[in-house]
Amino acid sequence: MNVTIVGTGNMGRAIATRALAGGHRVTLVGTELGKAQRLADELTGLGDVTAAEEVSGQLVVLAVPYTEAPHVVAQHADALAGTVVVDPTNPIDLAAMEPLADVDGSGAETIADAAPDGVPVVKAFNTAFAGTVLSGAVDGLPLDVFLAADDDDAKQTVAQLVRDGGMRPIDAGELRRAAQLEALGYLHMRIQHNFDAPFASAVKILT
Ligand SMILES: NC(=O)c1ccc[n+]([C@@H]2O[C@H](COP(=O)([O-])OP(=O)(O)OC[C@H]3O[C@@H](n4cnc5c(N)ncnc54)[C@H](OP(=O)(O)O)[C@@H]3O)[C@@H](O)[C@H]2O)c1
Repeated sequence: MNVTIVGTGNMGRAIATRALAGGHRVTLVGTELGKAQRLADELTGLGDVTAAEEVSGQLVVLAVPYTEAPHVVAQHADALAGTVVVDPTNPIDLAAMEPLADVDGSGAETIADAAPDGVPVVKAFNTAFAGTVLSGAVDGLPLDVFLAADDDDAKQTVAQLVRDGGMRPIDAGELRRAAQLEALGYLHMRIQHNFDAPFASAVKILT
């Protein structure tokens, strides 16, 4: 698959690394071409990765702050036709460490409202910390990546990306379930003081 990742920070680097590990082609889009090019240069030994100013391909991952995501979708609206948008964001006020108060339903549904008609949004990766996505595993177990979406084909496409990257997709249901995934993502951050190695834990379903 061709995967565009918008955002060149922690999650952008981590999801790009997993996508490359799965043999996919990655295009990085940043606030500046130079930033995307620097990350592409860093990851180039891992596979086929380039920098660009426009999004393209089958999957477009919004690895940006939640508040930026609707703007990114609007900015690239014309290029999003035929793609699946992947939303790993958590709508959190990081300064206050509290969920953003003005989110109605879920952040993912707000992003879906901003997306062009017919472009499906899949919530994914938001309950996992960037360092664990980077490696794809915690404590020797594949990372669980929870998915919520209304479009089953789109969800299966993202599930394949997750599997190819050595992780385990968990179907959490429709896009409205993103509200619970975002609450889980927030809770996972909020309880880090309990652990000796903060932000190295993972939310895992054991069966
Ligand atoms: N870090 C985690 O462990 C984690 C875990 C789960 C979910 N998430 C979610 O993942 C998202 C990204 O988090 P992060 O930790 O990767 O943040 P980060 O390290 O701060 O990176 C954010 C990136 O977004 C870029 N960006 C901002 N606005 C943009 C725009 N309009 N167009 C293109 N790029 C833009 C920033 O570019 P500049 O550097 O140029 O500003 C930066 O590269 C957030 O929504 C967060 O809630 C993070």
